[in-house]
Amino acid sequence: MSIMPEELIGGLFALADPSSRGTSPPFASDKAISFINARSAMAFALRELGCRRAWLPSYICGALADVAPEIRYYALDRQLRLADDFTKLEPGDAVIIVHHFGFRADPTIAVAARARGARIVEDAAQAAFLMRNDSDCIVYSPRKWVGVPDGGVLLWNDVRPVPALEPPPQTWWLNAFEASLRRRDFDRGSNDRAWFSRFQESEMISPQGDFRMSDIATALLARAFDWDAIRHRRCANYAALLDRLGDLALLPILGDVVPLGFPIRVGNRPALVERLHARNIFPPVHWPLPHVPTTFAQSHALSAELLTLPCDQRYDEDDMQRMADLLATVMA
Ligand SMILES: Cc1ncc(COP(=O)(O)O)c(C=O)c1O
Repeated sequence: MSIMPEELIGGLFALADPSSRGTSPPFASDKAISFINARSAMAFALRELGCRRAWLPSYICGALADVAPEIRYYALDRQLRLADDFTKLEPGDAVIIVHHFGFRADPTIAVAARARGARIVEDAAQAAFLMRNDSDCIVYSPRKWVGVPDGGVLLWNDVRPVPALEPPPQTWWLNAFEASLRRRDFDRGSNDRAWFSRFQESEMISPQGDFRMSDIATALLARAFDWDAIRHRRCANYAALLDRLGDLALLPILGDVVPLGFPIRVGNRPALVERLHARNIFPPVHWPLPHVPTTFAQSHALSAELLTLPCDQRYDEDDMQRMADLLATVMA
């Protein structure tokens, strides 16, 4: 069913209906270790690998800024391709390879990193449908894809002992749970936008530590989502946007990718965002880069112009047309 013209597009996912039935996630495995979020999974993996120093791509969210005692950045260009020769990379360092927006990262990153004896950790927080590929481990963040309040999944390339993990910190978890619960009420017509401030609060104090995924998230993830339908809807929505907004697309060829969202490059983003908000469309900015040194000029240039249009399974092609129509009007 199509969303009515002025209904909200974007924002966090509503808590899933516990009675819905689906399939296991694409990243499901009996070897998966479930953490409270992806950053905790990654911090644990880096410790387990004995890496004190981790290299992050210059285009990356701030959430990973403390995953290792020492953080360095490697350069990506404006197309998210490797633009670094890794001369300062030392054997035993970790290189974190980020699959942006659902797309597999530039394969030359892994080749260059391996050649210098680095450990490789794949970050698939934005790529729930991508499988591990020639790395030490891969990390997922399910709540960016479906309606669960928390969760981070770690998959190793070899067998490792399962760590003793603590329960989620209660205050943080209740806040995150309330945000997704209130979003559910909102989607059902409550007209109360408190979910947004709850969500912002929980994002600001996201824990990083040896905490496990909540039981509620674990149970919902095991069976409440139809991942084939999710794949289909996201791909169809992306294709619809490509059709209308191909000139703006950062990633104009979808191939067999299941996208997180539809990143576009725009000039004068603040004015555009204001117009979109006025029409109840809330595209996230992935990401502001205050944590990345300004010498990574291409990433900062990209960060200033990027906007991610939502194209997830909550929406259909009519919703995509509504967004495309508005953009066409505003940018004319
Ligand atoms: C690419 C990427 N990696 C990792 C993370 C951290 O995920 P989480 O919030 O589950 O810790 C995020 C987002 O915050 C992200 O965008």
